[in-house]
Amino acid sequence: MLPTNQPPPRRTQPQPLPRRGLNPVLCCIIALVLLGLLVGLAVLITYLTLRPKRLVYTVEAASVQDFAIANDDHISAKFNYVIKSYNPEKHVTVRYHSMHISTAHHNQSVAHKVISPFKQRPKNETRIQTQLVSHNVALSKFNAKDLRGEKSKGTIEMEVFVTARVSYKTWIFRSRRRTLKAACRPIMINVTSGSLDGFQRVLCRTRL
Ligand SMILES: *[C@@H]1O[C@H](CO)[C@@H](O)[C@H](O)[C@H]1NC(C)=O
Ligand SMILES: *[C@@H]1O[C@H](CO)[C@@H](O)[C@H](O)[C@H]1NC(C)=O
Ligand SMILES: *[C@@H]1O[C@H](CO)[C@@H](O)[C@H](O)[C@H]1NC(C)=O
Repeated sequence: MLPTNQPPPRRTQPQPLPRRGLNPVLCCIIALVLLGLLVGLAVLITYLTLRPKRLVYTVEAASVQDFAIANDDHISAKFNYVIKSYNPEKHVTVRYHSMHISTAHHNQSVAHKVISPFKQRPKNETRIQTQLVSHNVALSKFNAKDLRGEKSKGTIEMEVFVTARVSYKTWIFRSRRRTLKAACRPIMINVTSGSLDGFQRVLCRTRL
């Protein structure tokens, strides 16, 4: 026998049926396509605004002190360079995360130095004044002979290489880090006086 005071079964409201035509799978696909378009647009804007002009590098001054090549073909010298870096962009700030400068004779590096990180605002010109010291560095037989010959004539021919990790920033977009390379040659240095007499500024070839 049924209990008499059982409450009547509660009437459940009929669940509203999902509206036809709004297929969740379709929704997802449309959302993904829209998202893809937005990401594509962002990448395009980033590419257009961050496509870098060449940074301009020049060697403005170069001199050498205590230049000597020992009988065993080892070089000792102090190379002084003033390198100018120019950012020609109007809206792009360049951040140098690291910079490495080396000097070489016929591609044989004889001294190098690491420069601390810095930031270069639009249209900024930064002068990097640095001394690279060779302390008893072994030279190839050919280069030792060649440098002795150049020294006796009063002018040595060197090269300066700059390697840097840089990123660009414009508005809110920042580029990934890229490697900048600048090669400056020939750097003709008056070895008789340590002065800047006769020095011609050198425009470097840059690659990013
Ligand atoms: C130095 O290296 C560059 C590039 O690798 C080359 O073009 C050039 O001829 C080399 N110079 C000398 C003197 O070996
Ligand atoms: C370039 O920027 C550096 C460091 O931010 C600053 O010391 C220098 O004066 C600036 N040069 C010019 C020409 O604005
Ligand atoms: C090197 O400097 C000396 C002294 O300043 C000068 O007399 C000489 O002409 C210079 N040599 C070259 C090749 O410029």
